[in-house]
Amino acid sequence: MNFPKILRDHSNINIYLDEKELVNLNSQLTLKQRATLITEKHFIKVGISTGREFFNSLFNEMNIDKTLKCSMVTTPKLLDFFHNEECIILIFEKIEGITLGSHRNDFTLQLDIAFNELFNVIKNIAEIKNYPKNIDVLNRDMKAANYFEKIYKRLDMETRGALECLIGKLHQNPYLVFSHGDLIPTNIIKTKRSYYIIDWEWASLRPSTYDAALFILFSSCPLDGVRKIEKLFRYWDPMELYRDAIIISAREIKNWLDVKDSTIKEKYIKIWLKTLKKATRWLMSH
Ligand SMILES: Nc1ncnc2c1ncn2[C@@H]1O[C@H](COP(=O)(O)OP(=O)(O)O)[C@@H](O)[C@H]1O
Ligand SMILES: [Mg+2]
Repeated sequence: MNFPKILRDHSNINIYLDEKELVNLNSQLTLKQRATLITEKHFIKVGISTGREFFNSLFNEMNIDKTLKCSMVTTPKLLDFFHNEECIILIFEKIEGITLGSHRNDFTLQLDIAFNELFNVIKNIAEIKNYPKNIDVLNRDMKAANYFEKIYKRLDMETRGALECLIGKLHQNPYLVFSHGDLIPTNIIKTKRSYYIIDWEWASLRPSTYDAALFILFSSCPLDGVRKIEKLFRYWDPMELYRDAIIISAREIKNWLDVKDSTIKEKYIKIWLKTLKKATRWLMSH
């Protein structure tokens, strides 16, 4: 695919990208179905339609923008966007700040943060009401059943039995709210004045505990995270937090099992298997 040609077809694109930047995005897209670039003033995200899942998620991020604009949550402005059947391009204002984490699987925070302030941001996300009508809704039991089928061979007897028993009881009248869905430390930019929440591709309706559980699991080693969930008991329902911890760890195991040719995947599968075991154990004993 001649990617720069697609970009040039959009007459306005030269406002945002010079020739070198176009070439940079193009070379990323020869290897992957998506590309990102930080320029002097902008953050640019591109997806091409051969990577369906990411293409759709960028549409979700574009569609959610109106909802976010009228919320209490601080997010970068979506300045412009272009799309056709082949590609979608989102142009955001660039935020001068530092992300709370440096890589998805670092499980550390590179900045000191006031947890209370961040928990308030998470509560503000949950307060958002004017989301699109056709927004996705997470059903924990359906997700867990789907992941279980793919990961059960890797589970020890105890965890397998516990999950079999819990599936069907994970989604009993949860309080569903608007949720970011991927609130890992690299998706939060801290500036002097605020926490900017970025990367809304997976925003949908989820149990009100989901974003908090996910943030805690990814902000320290997930195993410690399971212990740290106790820190959240003052703010959220413990049972609900652990139910989300199950969904999140089962999903991570499934995703790592799907990764091909990786020397590190076993390390992460092990971490998440232990996390899943702890979360199921906690729920079985409460
Ligand atoms: N508006 C922005 N301003 C500055 N940096 C950004 C902005 N948006 C994203 N980034 C940086 O780019 C990284 C990837 O962006 P993100 O939207 O999270 O895409 P991905 O889906 O690849 O995770 C972020 O972790 C952050 O470091
Ligand atoms: Mg991200």
